[in-house]
Amino acid sequence: MCPRGIYNIQLDQSKGLAPPARVIAVVNQKGGVGKTTTAVNLAASLAASDWGTLLIDLDPQGNASSGFGCLKPRVQVYDALLGQKSFREVALQTALPLLQLIPATPELVGAEIELVPLEDRSERLKKALVPDLDKYNFIFIDCPPSLGLLTLNALSAADSVLIPMQCEYYALEGLAHLMKTISRVREYSNPHLKVEGIIFTMFDPRANLSRQVAEEARGFFGNDIYKTAIPRNVRLSEAPSHGKPALLYDLKSTGAQAYIELAKELLVRNEVSFPRRLPPSPSNISLTPQQGVPDGI
Ligand SMILES: Nc1ncnc2c1ncn2[C@@H]1O[C@H](COP(=O)(O)OP(=O)(O)O)[C@@H](O)[C@H]1O
Ligand SMILES: [Mg+2]
Repeated sequence: MCPRGIYNIQLDQSKGLAPPARVIAVVNQKGGVGKTTTAVNLAASLAASDWGTLLIDLDPQGNASSGFGCLKPRVQVYDALLGQKSFREVALQTALPLLQLIPATPELVGAEIELVPLEDRSERLKKALVPDLDKYNFIFIDCPPSLGLLTLNALSAADSVLIPMQCEYYALEGLAHLMKTISRVREYSNPHLKVEGIIFTMFDPRANLSRQVAEEARGFFGNDIYKTAIPRNVRLSEAPSHGKPALLYDLKSTGAQAYIELAKELLVRNEVSFPRRLPPSPSNISLTPQQGVPDGI
């Protein structure tokens, strides 16, 4: 079941990051590197710390949607991209009061084809988002594993790009290709697009290969590499099958805690004062859904 957004997100304007929302595209053309896991858990960590957050699933596989238990939505991102509905009409409420989700289904594959004849084909998402920018502090876009039209829409709409990376052979070559795409997007449609950061995912500091690739990546990308690395953690892979982000599935798990740390680092890097309400930690579990909030969507 995927109920419509019933909560009106109330933004606290006093926390340093005033709307319009910071739009962050989670991009890597390689599949299975942790884009969806990062988008879901980072969005949840920020929402749990009182930041009004929207997560847009822009992958026809719909993994971010199913990660919130949203399996057959009646409305979805496709409707907004094709101009049939506004984003407000397709936003669904999650179990976290400050987190809304715009889901995707396999139907979104059709958008790649249907958008082609349109003149503003790579700007559809950007235009559709404008009326809602004041409603959130953060908007995350979970991208498909390609650099096609859907990802281009995300890059045109975004203020910055967050790149999850697995420390394996060829990872750096893939990143070089992505950086070229980002440069082209800067040239043609979005001159202010920033690199928010590169995040090591499923990181195993004991593995020689992980360490070597991480070192090489630091050499190339310097300060763009986030200090917080996400370890491999079974709770992170189990949580989606329960339709929950890790912090609602097992708050104490190293995976949930790593994404909370990542959220803090993102706030610090954006020079945002810390939220008055602390992000959840095992000793601060007051952030489970409030009474009356449905347990998942
Ligand atoms: N840190 C992690 N620890 C364990 N499993 C992970 C971790 N990050 C992602 N996974 C799992 O790896 C798979 C691919 O991750 P996903 O986020 O879907 O990648 P992408 O969106 O880039 O395709 C999923 O099954 C996910 O549950
Ligand atoms: Mg994905």
